[in-house]
Amino acid sequence: MDPTTYTDLTQGKIKHIDFRISVNFSTRTLEIEARYQLQEPVQGSLYLDSFKIDLKEARANSRELEWEFDAQDDVLGERLHLKGLENDSSFTLTFQTSIEARALQWLNASQTAGGNYPFLFSQCQAIHARSVFPCQDTPSVRFTYSAEVEVPQGLVAAMAAEQTGVQAGSGQTLFSFKMPQPIPSYLFALAVGNLAFRELGPRTGVYAEPETIAAAVWEFAENESKLNEAEKLLGPYLWGRYDVLILPPSFPYGGMENPRLTFLTPTAILGTRGHTSLITHELAHAWTGNLVTNATWQDFWLNEGWTTYAETRITEVLEGKEVTDLHEVYDEKRLITVMERVGMDSSYTCLKLPADEKDADAFTTIIPYYKGCFFLQECEYAVGRARFDAFIQKYMARFQFQSLTTEAFLEFLKAELPEVFEKVNVQQWIYEPGLPDERHRPKSRLYDEVKQVLDDYQQGIKPTQEQVQSWHRYQILSFLQGLPGKITVEDCQYFDGILELKKRNDLALFSYFYITCIASGYQAILPRVEQFMETIGRMLYVLPVVRAMTEAEWSREHIRPLFERVRDRHHQITVRAMEEILKKAGL
Ligand code: BES
Ligand code: ZN
Repeated sequence: MDPTTYTDLTQGKIKHIDFRISVNFSTRTLEIEARYQLQEPVQGSLYLDSFKIDLKEARANSRELEWEFDAQDDVLGERLHLKGLENDSSFTLTFQTSIEARALQWLNASQTAGGNYPFLFSQCQAIHARSVFPCQDTPSVRFTYSAEVEVPQGLVAAMAAEQTGVQAGSGQTLFSFKMPQPIPSYLFALAVGNLAFRELGPRTGVYAEPETIAAAVWEFAENESKLNEAEKLLGPYLWGRYDVLILPPSFPYGGMENPRLTFLTPTAILGTRGHTSLITHELAHAWTGNLVTNATWQDFWLNEGWTTYAETRITEVLEGKEVTDLHEVYDEKRLITVMERVGMDSSYTCLKLPADEKDADAFTTIIPYYKGCFFLQECEYAVGRARFDAFIQKYMARFQFQSLTTEAFLEFLKAELPEVFEKVNVQQWIYEPGLPDERHRPKSRLYDEVKQVLDDYQQGIKPTQEQVQSWHRYQILSFLQGLPGKITVEDCQYFDGILELKKRNDLALFSYFYITCIASGYQAILPRVEQFMETIGRMLYVLPVVRAMTEAEWSREHIRPLFERVRDRHHQITVRAMEEILKKAGL
């Protein structure tokens, strides 16, 4: 039983969908006709997940079908009950999405880099595909699809699929796509805007607005060699091309591993190639997540923990062990901070997540990422890298284009690498909260340098600009992360200066820095925080700042009005998450 979906797998599964989508920027809706094919003929009822879908017609083999939205829930949406199927293996639905569709963000021209064309993008993970089309919105059902997408002339449609044609009409352009590899619903993705495309290599390229494409091409020039490196670790890349799409800054995530086309925050473009570990992460998902998929969101660590593990392995080859060690110490500290916030004995710190949570977005903390990665490292240490690498390739080949639970994974692990269970307390890692005491602790020379500076600061000795000038990005992040909760206003200004934060324009640094400033009562920071919240939707950066504002006495009164002012500029997922923080803080 999966609490995040109304799907009843005993009724049958969707196998393929042919979409015909018309994108309407004036009503901010998609008008869709979708023809569904089923794995096997279905008799009687079929339940589908939906969210505020305006269904106009349902037909099967030229019969009209009756339907009813017969259950509803704030989180899950409405259960669409299709009735009277007579051993039908296909049916067609005609419908319109809601202006409140949770997966979709419709942007005004002013919210884009170019400022002249509107923009639309989707974000379906975890359970928002149902707001775009009725479906079995669970990662355990996979389907192939085709799509014809009609957009106003002058705009370009991009999908996480293969483009098969472009046809100019009068006032409209029709883009055709096909996705021949079966995907779970959360990997359906669409974007429409003034998009240009540039090739990076034979299998890699970039989509972006013309205003940002040159910067993106430079920043992500290494994608082709990353892809080749990833294949060495994970096996052949089975999705054809690997392109990235640069979205406007309100995109709620750093990246989203939509197949063939990673969706990316523009905050990844630093002008230094300093944040391309994000690409490594999303690219690794092409195997760990997209090819081998968590069967339910309770098994989310199978996607994110495995991907984080693969990311560290690829980063080690590309950037060296010193850098991966630094990442690991930094990540361990973040992991512990977040675990302490949710409670060290909370079930949200288990790798197998609680079975009673229906809001899959509630699982989106960094815990499954880093605890999952550290667990897999323990497995690697137990059997040695050579054997573990052989295991990885076997795992990918055995479960490709399938979804599996944690339990199925453990069964496979036991069969392939039984010694892991002698040396690692697997049960504790997976099913118990917190972090096991018995584990390898990450160590890093580059981190120790930062630690020394932090210790000196505690003694009243401030670092000089020369000391921090050549620091690696993750050393600066570690420094900001390691500062005491509250410092003096003068020191806030001093660190702003010696770290040259404004010049770096790196939003991850801003996020940490603003949190320290807010907690330290540095009220003059407010305009910068306001500007940040007006544009940046990346939740990893924005939500901690919102939380900090609810916690400091002086900023509490500012956050609700600020939120009300910026909410229309953000994706519904971000708005919901901000709202949740304010509610918890009683604001
Ligand atoms: N798949 C996730 C994003 C996601 C998770 C969307 C859960 C919806 C629900 C993506 O691969 C991811 O992890 N992005 C991170 C970046 C990563 C480097 C940690 C992000 O958005 O910050
Ligand atoms: Zn991820």
